Amino acid sequence: MQIPFHRYSFNEEEIEAVKKVLQSGWITTGKECSSFEEELAEYKKSLLAVGLNSGTSALFLLLSALNLQRGDEVITTPLTFAATANVVLHHGAKLVFADINPNTLNIDVQSIKEKTTSKTKAIIVVHVAGHPCDMKPIMEWANQHEIALIEDCAHAIEATYEHQPIGTFGLGGAFSFYANKNITTAEGGMMISNHTQYEKLWRSLRNHGFDLEPVKRQENNSFKQYDIVFPGYKMNMNDIVAAIGRVQLSKIDDFHQKRKNIVQKYLDFFKNFPYLKPVMPLSNSESAWHLMIVKNETSKSRSEILNFLIENGIQPSIHFKPIYEFSYYKKIGFQASDYPNCESIKEKIFSLPLYPSLKDEELDYIFKVLIDIFQ
Ligand SMILES: Cc1ncc(COP(=O)(O)O)c(C=O)c1O
Repeated sequence: MQIPFHRYSFNEEEIEAVKKVLQSGWITTGKECSSFEEELAEYKKSLLAVGLNSGTSALFLLLSALNLQRGDEVITTPLTFAATANVVLHHGAKLVFADINPNTLNIDVQSIKEKTTSKTKAIIVVHVAGHPCDMKPIMEWANQHEIALIEDCAHAIEATYEHQPIGTFGLGGAFSFYANKNITTAEGGMMISNHTQYEKLWRSLRNHGFDLEPVKRQENNSFKQYDIVFPGYKMNMNDIVAAIGRVQLSKIDDFHQKRKNIVQKYLDFFKNFPYLKPVMPLSNSESAWHLMIVKNETSKSRSEILNFLIENGIQPSIHFKPIYEFSYYKKIGFQASDYPNCESIKEKIFSLPLYPSLKDEELDYIFKVLIDIFQ
């Protein structure tokens, strides 16, 4: 049996939606993108959403609202994907890693407090695996110190913390629709925010710094010249991508329920399997269950386990290798010894396949292979 790490769920509906856009005469950012923005904003109970070409662009544009200067500091977690850290450097700010909570794998509140200085301008939390960070104490700290809070929600589209949608706590939330995400458009992203004072800026920055979006220039049958109000970027979402996203979003509750059913089967299995411990969300939150991350509680090496899975047709993954371990980040001075909690789990964690189309017989096969590894 071959079980990939992720599998997207598309059917005729996505194909039809793309066909409709291709036949419409308008394929770049237009009505489909606006509708997808409205629908995501409504789903997330947020005042605005801006459609983009990636989750990375969403993180980057959220930071743009802060007008960061050299020497300004941004705190985030080292246990994340490259984008979260890279965008801080792209803005010329100083990247500061707080340590993680080794149980949830999310950023640790106490460590955020210790790393805060008078130059801290933003905190980027990452809801790893779709499990919400502990937002209450983090928001209290951020508000008390007038620090902007940005949420990397790439894993967490369905998640809530004390019933509040993830992505709506601070300045804004960044979502990714990359191929392996809970809803996907192959590539794509969106940012949400309740801070409508920045909407014009974000819409302009995503499109070269123009004051008029392409679709607006066509309105009322009159020629309109755009102005360039800032040297912006090229980060807009096109209507083909948006059409796929709208169909995916319409299925999100079904996808989420399927993920939860599979998670329950994993958890039932792990109850009687002492060798691996699943990473669980906080009890006051609902996880998006993007990933099934487990901790190896045995003396068997992780690479031995991963190789056994791969030899038996099961594709695992690792979320994440800490950012400070990558050569560029080492070169600019980050040291593993500054993050003892992250160090304590970094060789233990790995992720097993989790997606709506994972079949019972595939899950049973994964369980059988796991048993074979340890017995
Ligand atoms: C935690 C996290 N943040 C940001 C991103 C970036 O998203 P994108 O690939 O859409 O740019 C990812 C993508 O995998 C991610 O996992």
